[in-house]
Amino acid sequence: MTYTYMKFKTTCIFFLIWMIIPRGVCQVLGADWPVPEPAKSIVCAASFSKETVSAGDALYQKNCKACHGDPGKQNWAKIVPVPGDPASAEFQKQTDGEIFFRITTGKVPMPSFQPILPEQDRWNIISYIRSFNPQYIQPTPQQKVAGGGRTIRLLLACDYNQKRLYVVCNEITKDKTIVPVENADIQLLAKRYFGNLQIGHSVHTNKIGLAVFDFPQNLPGDKFGMINLIARLNDETGILGEATTTLNARIGVPTQWVSLTAPRAMWNTRDKSPLWLTFTFSLCFIIVWGFIIYILVSLGKMKRINAKVKIQIEDE
Ligand code: HEC
Repeated sequence: MTYTYMKFKTTCIFFLIWMIIPRGVCQVLGADWPVPEPAKSIVCAASFSKETVSAGDALYQKNCKACHGDPGKQNWAKIVPVPGDPASAEFQKQTDGEIFFRITTGKVPMPSFQPILPEQDRWNIISYIRSFNPQYIQPTPQQKVAGGGRTIRLLLACDYNQKRLYVVCNEITKDKTIVPVENADIQLLAKRYFGNLQIGHSVHTNKIGLAVFDFPQNLPGDKFGMINLIARLNDETGILGEATTTLNARIGVPTQWVSLTAPRAMWNTRDKSPLWLTFTFSLCFIIVWGFIIYILVSLGKMKRINAKVKIQIEDE
């Protein structure tokens, strides 16, 4: 009795230590979230207004409230590291560029919102967060650096002879000239039912704004081997902005997808499951329940025998 209690107490103590130490370490490490110098000075190309604030409000409720709570109410989720209140002085100390960078990239447990929210949505959220700061003045256009305002175009082409995919990244400047963008990080993705699948590693564009990808190997396509490709500018700092382009190319392995409505298949409904599966399942079901019933019956028998033996002993 005391032994079990001691064991229980020790377990509890170890559990508490296990809970506290790594969290404490996380809290200390979590304090640091550096933002690259050029990203800090990025500002929104458009002016914040009542419209951007109300659009940002709706987006905030949907994407941020679960962790950050209502701005000004300090009711953020009890998680570590602490998400913090967007209306707090500490949070408002960040520049627009810093907030934008952090929303864009995320940091565990906060997700990266680059694939979730378009650039303008992220700025709308910032305008909503800034509406809780009466001292905030949006940086003037003179201070604005390249960022949201730049127009980047991607072109995706397929060379079936060389078995290569080419992505060209250009900037269209204010006076409508086309300039190649060097060193842009380009990702190639294949469109799938649920989200997109990245193909290989991302590639940086060369001096003429060109990124070259080899054909993916053994990537299943539709029944003609067709794949919906997406080339995407992977711009974590938000300096260049966003750009994607798509292309359908026959570079996959032709695959016959079996329809969900096909008769008797593993992935179908219960009524249409393969016969062997139904049979094996029923058999297992009968064996398990048979065994349980057998044990119960045996227990009953034991009890009866026990009673009989007791009577006999008392008789003697
Ligand atoms: C899954 C929970 C979660 C969600 C959802 C979330 N965040 Fe966060 N956020 C955090 C945590 C935790 C931190 C603290 C990270 C750290 O300091 O290491 C944080 C930090 C931040 C920071 C940096 C604050 C600072 O003082 O360093 C910003 C800015 C931010 N979040 C904005 C947002 C916005 C805007 C949204 C919605 C688009 C959002 N977050 C959604 C959990 C979340």
